[in-house]
Amino acid sequence: MSVYTASTTAPVNIATLKYWGKRDKSLNLPTNSSISVTLSQDDLRTLTSVATSSSFTEDQLWLNGTPESLTSERTVACLKDLRALRTAVEARDTSLPKFSEWKLHIVSENNFPTAAGLASSAAGFSALVKAIAKLYELPESMSEISKIARKGSGSACRSLFGGYVAWEMGSEVDGSDSKAVEVAPLEHWPSMKAAILVVSADKKDTPSTSGMQTTVATSDLFQHRIKNVVPTRFIEMKETILNKDFAKFAELTMKDSNSFHAVCLDSYPPIKYLNDTSMKVIKLIHTLNAAAGETIAAYTFDAGPNAVIYYLEENEAVVLGLLHELFGGVAGWEKVDKEQLTLLKAFPKEHLDYDITKGVAK
Ligand code: DP6
Repeated sequence: MSVYTASTTAPVNIATLKYWGKRDKSLNLPTNSSISVTLSQDDLRTLTSVATSSSFTEDQLWLNGTPESLTSERTVACLKDLRALRTAVEARDTSLPKFSEWKLHIVSENNFPTAAGLASSAAGFSALVKAIAKLYELPESMSEISKIARKGSGSACRSLFGGYVAWEMGSEVDGSDSKAVEVAPLEHWPSMKAAILVVSADKKDTPSTSGMQTTVATSDLFQHRIKNVVPTRFIEMKETILNKDFAKFAELTMKDSNSFHAVCLDSYPPIKYLNDTSMKVIKLIHTLNAAAGETIAAYTFDAGPNAVIYYLEENEAVVLGLLHELFGGVAGWEKVDKEQLTLLKAFPKEHLDYDITKGVAK
């Protein structure tokens, strides 16, 4: 009995303009458009292999070596859509094997700790949908496929593209125009870097899906955000990416992270993702930018306390140097030549009234 296989990887993406809120829960349609940067394949990614055969008796999934259920509503929705597209392919060419009727075996592995509070569902659903689309030899574009990944997890639709990606919220009730599109490939702005500061590897308090539901139902500030803030920011952020305007990109990114966490706090009961250490990272980046006399680093936080810091390669020594000095063990630190740390040496230490390593005020 033949077994047919396909493999693919999908990296994590980190939103710089946050998706927060659903207008339709089952189709996973958002209340606002969002933008993200997909990290490179060498960093954080999910590797997924899929196999199908007429001899398989049930759909099966192994996640990081452990058997997992494939019965969640979201996974079922993704498999159903992929099988429907494959059915159409088979109808056009009747000589093809009937994959649409066969069961799937799926093996998925993250190269980062799933519990680290990083967007593992984005890379996971993106890799799952991409691997099956490849196995089924679907002719659809990545944007079309992104509508299926979206049903798995909203943010997953953006990980189908590398580089700078927009998820256009769309306006159709059936979600047919709610899809990911490329803003620019990674090579467009190769000097852009991201450092992830794992402040806490604990599981998040409030899962994104239920947190969003609370926010949509209770926050007045959220109404202001989706109507008056995000639409303009969406246009501006795309422009700053296309123009490679780091200072403006950084400002919009930090403001949007703050706006998102503000609507979380304005929810009832309030949702709090940032902890004291996160707040110290925020203060540190603002102090660093003030000391540099220009915006050289930006922070952003998802539904947890861990920070992602964006900076340009030319400022790596300064940014990572400072984070290392205060935080210790930041990934990528080995690349930094300590002799280059001129700004760090001149850094006004009296502004740092806390010790980030220990997360306590000095
Ligand atoms: C704060 O994509 O995890 O990371 O669609 O319910 O699976 P579901 O939510 P999810 O939410 C991500 C929220 C966010 C912001 C973002 O990635 O845009």
